[in-house]
Amino acid sequence: MSNVGIFSAKGGVGKTTLTANLGASLVSEFNKSVCLVDGNVSAANLGLHFGLYYSPVTLYDVLNSRIPINTAVYIHPSGVRILPSPISAHKVGASVRNLRRHMDRLVGYDHIIMDSSPSLSTQTLECLNAVDQALIVTTPDAPAVTDASKMAVHAERSGLEFLGLVVNRVRNRNYELTMDEIESISGLDIAGIIPENENVQRCISEGTPEVLKNPYSDFSIEVNMLAAEIFRIRYSPPSTLDKIKFWLGLKDRYSMADRARDNSEPMFQKNQRSLSPRDDYRLAAKRASKTPRAWKTKFDKDEYTGEVPKEVEDKLKKEIMGMLRDSIREKIKESVKSGSKK
Ligand SMILES: Nc1ncnc2c1ncn2[C@@H]1O[C@H](COP(=O)(O)OP(=O)(O)OP(=O)(O)O)[C@@H](O)[C@H]1O
Ligand SMILES: [Mg+2]
Repeated sequence: MSNVGIFSAKGGVGKTTLTANLGASLVSEFNKSVCLVDGNVSAANLGLHFGLYYSPVTLYDVLNSRIPINTAVYIHPSGVRILPSPISAHKVGASVRNLRRHMDRLVGYDHIIMDSSPSLSTQTLECLNAVDQALIVTTPDAPAVTDASKMAVHAERSGLEFLGLVVNRVRNRNYELTMDEIESISGLDIAGIIPENENVQRCISEGTPEVLKNPYSDFSIEVNMLAAEIFRIRYSPPSTLDKIKFWLGLKDRYSMADRARDNSEPMFQKNQRSLSPRDDYRLAAKRASKTPRAWKTKFDKDEYTGEVPKEVEDKLKKEIMGMLRDSIREKIKESVKSGSKK
């Protein structure tokens, strides 16, 4: 079972959109059991991506009234499970203390994915403690990328395994940062590149994530690629013929789950991937050479925090004390000499 948090220090970069679509991809394309948790308790909106406008019990009740966590899980017709947070304004100040303790009781899913609030608030720190792995989201602009690095430092400090940086809303304009620039500014490895897609907002108003509504759009294929990449699942993107047939209504979507069933193969073999090579951004080559992923941030921990390691501090203290002792001895000698001359 994996327990992943989706984080960004900057708001509005697409955490909730990614949480919803990644969950939908894992269920619809890869036949996994998934529970999505809205860790953004103060400004919740994950449920809205699935048309969940009314939820009598939420994560707020789990945290405050101590109802069992499983009783606040809702089932979307696609099979995605959602643990929403309250939409109503009077529960805005909810505390998320002990989130981890409750989350540990959420069992029986292949993947738990938690959306989180922006900034480095106490709420976000609680979310960092409540998961084991982190996916960090950014958009291709300098403010979001620098904030992503800061979030990475905090996630690393919380002991989370880093699954990668996701660059969202990519339009391939010349004013955007390139993928190489993003990697070198942030010092983080890119796991996925999600294009701008104007349907995404329409999908929110319709209450169905893009991955479910348009499974063969570039956006959906990239989300599937991301799911395959971070969870090490085999995935072959649909061929152009598949897409044409789908758009002409000649065939229903044909997922990996269907393919595996037809070939009567074992469902998904862990650690086995067959990703189609992509020329853009040389991601395919990077994918192959980066297992397992390690944290790599531009900020050296000590340099960033301003903390001096204990052994360095002790050494410096000794040196300074030694220098002081020597100079005091010199001063005494000098004054003794000048005194005896007089
Ligand atoms: N790939 C995309 N293409 C087009 N629009 C997108 C894409 N990703 C996100 N959006 C839009 O960007 C807006 C912000 O997205 P979202 O709410 O997912 O961000 P967020 O990081 O969760 O924000 P917050 O920090 O406030 O929780 C939404 O209107 C969403 O529809
Ligand atoms: Mg959000």
